[in-house]
This record gives sequence, C-alpha cells and structure tokens, in this order.
Amino acid sequence: MNSKNRLFLALLSACCLATASAAALSEAEINSRVNDLLSRMTLEEKIGQLNQLSGYGYAPEMVGHIRSGAVGSILNEVDPEVVNKLQHEAVENTRLGIPLIFARDVIHGFKTIFPIPLGQAATWNPAIVEEGARIAADEAGSVGIRWTFSPMVDIARDARWGRIAEGFGEDPVLATALGVAMVKGYQGDDLTKPNTMAACAKHFAGYGAAEAGKDYNTTWIPEELLRDVYLRPFKALADAGSATFMCSFNDINGVPSSGNRKLLQNILRDEWGYDGLMVSDWGSIQQMIPHGYSENLRHAAAQAVDAGVDIDMESYAYTGHLRDLVEKGEVSEARVDSLVRNVLNLKYRLGLFENPYVDMASAKRFYAPASLEAARRAVEESAILLKNSGTLPINNSKVKKIAVIGPMADAQHDQAGTWVFDLEKEHSVTPLTALQQMYGKENIIYAPGLEYTRDLNTKGFSDAVKAAKKADVVLYFAGEEAVLSGEAHCRADLSLPGAQSRLLDELKATGKPVVLIVQAGRQLALMHECETADAVVYCFHGGTMTGPGLANLLAGTTNFSGRSPVSFPRMSGQEPLYYNRKNTGRPAEGITLINDIPLEAGQTSTGCTSFYLDAGDGALFPFGYGLSYTTFAYSDPVLSATEIAPDGSLTVKCTITNTGKRAGAEVAQLYIRDHVASLVRPVRELRGFEKITLQPGESRTVEFQLHPSDLAFHINGAQTAVEPGEFSVWVAPNANEGNPVKFNVVKPAEIASR
Ligand code: GLC
Repeated sequence: MNSKNRLFLALLSACCLATASAAALSEAEINSRVNDLLSRMTLEEKIGQLNQLSGYGYAPEMVGHIRSGAVGSILNEVDPEVVNKLQHEAVENTRLGIPLIFARDVIHGFKTIFPIPLGQAATWNPAIVEEGARIAADEAGSVGIRWTFSPMVDIARDARWGRIAEGFGEDPVLATALGVAMVKGYQGDDLTKPNTMAACAKHFAGYGAAEAGKDYNTTWIPEELLRDVYLRPFKALADAGSATFMCSFNDINGVPSSGNRKLLQNILRDEWGYDGLMVSDWGSIQQMIPHGYSENLRHAAAQAVDAGVDIDMESYAYTGHLRDLVEKGEVSEARVDSLVRNVLNLKYRLGLFENPYVDMASAKRFYAPASLEAARRAVEESAILLKNSGTLPINNSKVKKIAVIGPMADAQHDQAGTWVFDLEKEHSVTPLTALQQMYGKENIIYAPGLEYTRDLNTKGFSDAVKAAKKADVVLYFAGEEAVLSGEAHCRADLSLPGAQSRLLDELKATGKPVVLIVQAGRQLALMHECETADAVVYCFHGGTMTGPGLANLLAGTTNFSGRSPVSFPRMSGQEPLYYNRKNTGRPAEGITLINDIPLEAGQTSTGCTSFYLDAGDGALFPFGYGLSYTTFAYSDPVLSATEIAPDGSLTVKCTITNTGKRAGAEVAQLYIRDHVASLVRPVRELRGFEKITLQPGESRTVEFQLHPSDLAFHINGAQTAVEPGEFSVWVAPNANEGNPVKFNVVKPAEIASR
C-alpha cells in the first residue's frame, strides 16, 4: 500500500474513532435533517439514492456511478478497504456527500456460520437465534456491511422448494418468534453502532407458496390464508422494527409483488403503519416484464414507484426511466421524494452521516472463541433425534472402534449449507475431525464410500463395508450438498441423492449397528432409510461447528433437544405437507396400503377417505417432533375457564415431568383447534411454545395465555373474527400427540344469562 493510501487510512481511522460514538439522533432530528437534505437535492440525485448496484471492487465505472450520484447503496462488497474507498468517493467527491449503505446476504452467519435458518428453527430457541444474528452483525459490521437481507420469514409448506432452507419452516407462530429474535440480534438497541445491521424482512410476500415447490413460480393465495399464515410473521417483524423489507419475485394471484400496491402500500404502509424501507429483490422490477405485468422497463418503473418500492436492486429501472416519468408528469416528484425519504432516513438511523467509514483498526473481527462456542451450541440445539433403538449415545464401555462413513462426514464446504458467500471452509470443523479429536484417530476408521452426495460411483463401497466390519458402531453421514437447496435449487424427488441409500443398505447388511446422520437443506423422504438404520439424527446444514456439535450429541455429552420445524414426508408425492391442514369431509380412516389390496379388489373396497394408497396419510415425523436421551410426561392441560367470551382470555397450564435418567430440554407446544367456524379451520394450530430443561424426576408447570388474537381468524380480507363454538387445546410434544381439553367461546349474553 503506498504512503498516500496509508495516510488516508490513518486519517480515516482517526475520524472513525472521533465519531464512532455518534449517538442515535431522535426521530424528529432525523426527519428534520432528511427534509433539509431533500430540499437541496436535484431530481438526478434523488433518483440515484433509489439505485442499488452489486459491487465489483474499486472499479472506475463504479467510481463514476458514485461520483455522478447515480447509486445510493451497494451490495456484495465485503473488502473493508474497498468499502472505505468507495465510501470516500460518495462522501468527499459528490455534491452533497450522502454516504452509501453497504449490504450483503448475511443469512446465517458471515464468517462464523451458524445452522441454516431451518436448522435454527429446529432449536425452538429465540435466544440462540438472536445470539447468532448478533455475532453475524459484529463480524459483517467489521468489514462495513450495515444492512443484511435477512431474516427470511417466508412460510414454506413444500420441501421441494429449495428456499425452505432459508426460512423457519411451516408454522407462522414459530417463524414469528424466531424472525423477531433475528431482527433484535442484527439491529441491537442502537442501530448507529457499527457492529449492527439493518434487518430486512423478506420476501414480501407469499414467496414460499410457489406452486409445486418450484422457485419463482406463481402463487394463488386467498386473502384469508395470506393473512392467517403468510403475512403473520411479516406483520410481527414490522411491529418489531425491522428497518427494511424486501418484496418478492412471485406474483400473488396474478400481481407481482414488485408492482403490488395493495400489498406494499395498502397493507404494509396504510394498514400496518410501517415506515421503514422497501427494497426490490434482484432485478424483480425488470422481471415484471417476463411476468407479463409490464410492457417495458419504463412501465415497470412506474408500477414499482406507485406500489412503493423504494430501492431498485439491479433492474436499472429507476435510473433509466424515472426522470422521464417525472418530467412527463406520469410520476410525481413528491412520490419520488417519499421513496428517497425512506432511504435517507435509514442512512441517518445507521449513523452513516456521522460515521461512514469502517474503523480499520478493528476490521475483520471473525471466529472469536465465544462465537464458535455459540455456533456449536446452535448445532447441538438444532439437531433432531428422529429414531434411536438404543444405539445412541455411543457406549464407551462397549464401543472401541467407530466407522465414520459417508460423503458428509468430512464435507467442509457442504456442511455450511446454502447462502454462505463469505465461507472460509478451512474453518469448518467436520464430524470426522471432531470424532477423531474426541475418540483418538486410532479408534476412528474412515471410509467415505461416496465422494459427494450425488455420487453414483460405488467403487468406494467395499472400503466402507470393510470399515464397518472392523468397527463396533457405524456412523453414516449422508445428506445433500449445499448446492441442492437454496435459491433456484428445487427438487421434485426428495430421496437421498446419488447412491447414498444403497450404501446404507450395504452397511446395514454387515450386521453392525448403523447410525444415519443426515445433513440437508430440507426435510427429505426417508421412509426406507429410517426403517433400515438403528438410529437417525437429522441436522439441517449446521455450519462451521457441525462436527463438534454432532460429536457431543452422538457421544451423549449433550442431550438432543431439537424439534422439527417441518413435517417429514414418507414420499415426495405427499408435498405440500404441513400439520395445520384442514380436516376435509373424509379424513383418512381404515387406511389400506397398496401392497395389502387384494387382487381384483372392488372399487370401493379400500374405503373412500383421504389418503394415498402408497404413502398412507400424514407425516413420517410430525411438526414439533424430536426424541431425547430422556423421556417426558405431560399432564392434561388445566384451563382457567371452560368458557370465555369472544374477547376473553384463557390461561392454560400443564405439568411436564422428566421421567428418564438424565437431564434434558423439552419443547412444550400449545395448540388449538376451532371445531366449527364459518370458514373451516385447521385440525391444529400452534399458538405458543416454551423450551424447558428438567433434571431427572423434575416436574415443572408451564403456563400459556390464550387471547382473542390467538383464536381469531381472517374472515373477510383484513376483518377477523372469534366465533362462538367449541375449541380444543393441547399442550403437547408435537403436532400429532397430546390429550386435548375443550373449552367454549360463548356470546356474552349467554354468560350473562347464567
Ligand atoms: C436474491 C434473493 C434475495 C437476496 C437478493 C440479493 O436473488 O432472492 O433473497 O437477498 O437476491 O442477493
């Protein structure tokens, strides 16, 4: 680095230190400064603030864009020196010196990679999620990233959809709790602090309802379902103060979100009162043309401005057409001002006017021991024990040699999962490494068997089988490579890829106990594999510390406490599959499976109810499911009343006892069912949960409150109702178990007449 740059960076650091303590401005002060700045801006400068480009270094073209005021924010620039040099161009070499915001997809960690959000959902622990987000903000903030495009709170009911990996699963209440926790972790209590990031609630909205689980596909969502399920987490994140939102690629009932005024203006702004910033998804404004909603980019720009998309990410729609639209009176400058106001407001909230630069003296803060320890705990709390016939925990008195098999045993890249642009895989600690450290290399016999999860070449099978025969227990690490989930990575067949299932059969044929440990970006269809293996552990891609986390669980040092945030299918064809389904007029009963049907059976001989001849009905493992090394017993719920008015509340208590021999954490789940309503209601709906740790023999009473908002459902657009009638309530270990207790919602007059 030449002396001139060294001097610049030294001055810069001094400047950072002097202003790093810039306290947060009040809302009134920010509004005043925004209005003042706006009054001095040209139309060109305003339009530039609405333009976001993906970075490509300190390149002359980008410098030209900045100096001409044609860009307001940059994503994907993560070199702090480049960030500072580009920021210098904006602050020192433009007429008004408006700083840039630097953004990145920091989805489940920046350098210390946590489990994918679907894995974090399996922890049912908001504190763990908040901690992971705080660590991510500190690491990303140390290179100048002050805005992350996270949390994704798209509800997903279809495992074929690759982006189910990035969300919190199929339930809106669980997604709400964890999404809010993530926002708190990113934004902290003072967004001007350089180790915080603006959160981004995405993808608004209904993206996870993509038809057939195919990414970017059309969605058809009746407004009542949209509001009951898909909008619920977004409303909570708006209320929790997520600084930004991102509109989604998909159309809802024929209207692409990027031009959906009802969604972005009427619901988000007018009804919810949200005053943050709305950014488009990558090119989503331009994509309204192939959608068939916009004639051309100029038309798309007008539609997006009208709907309320503040920032155009990589469509070049606003820089290309907004000036002409304003000059021709098709878009008012006042409307442009309202968008620019949201951008400037965010920059003031982030403290960028006072403190625009990365403090190079403390840049690149990664992999702190405490961060790695938190990432390991997240893995331990996210992994789900699906089956255990006694093989786990590894019994050190009987087990001397351990065979470690499979393409995911030592997969430093793939164990990190999807959306990890900044991964340094050499920091990933794999299960093989962790087990060698735990048991000694001499006691671990490693044979991958397959080189990667899609591998069909069985040349490695013989070594794997030999390894298994020499061992006392086989740990088979299978699953999906990271690339098989995430954006645009949908799968119509949810089987284990490649020859992994065949390898399991060969390992089982050795007669040794086999533990199947799956690392994947989604729930897979593993009916045969779960029948074959002696124990099954499921880990939605665990990130940097997958190895130590899984090793502690397999060894029994730590007890399992993961519970599934999704419904596991028996077969791919069951998708979409989710627990909070409708009962139908012919719920499954008397299931006759395909191989049990007699020859020339009569047409109605298998009964006429709702199930599959080959897959039966329901999940292989239900929402909320997970085993432990101990056992728990639930009392029947005790209600504070057996009837309440529609505006009344109810207390639900349940005593849970650890009936096993070791401590463990249990996730008590509160479900309701509204048995009769003017729109049929789901057979169960999660309305609360609490994760508690109990010592052997210990009992604890958990208490939940049910309020009208928990019993209400959307009956006509935004209108909700709590209708009189019978309800059931459960406190249960998952969506299939538990003893319900009933209560009634009755009209106040009925109560008064008693
Ligand atoms: C992608 C994704 C979105 C991401 C954005 C920026 O296409 O849909 O989630 O934040 O572009 O990378």
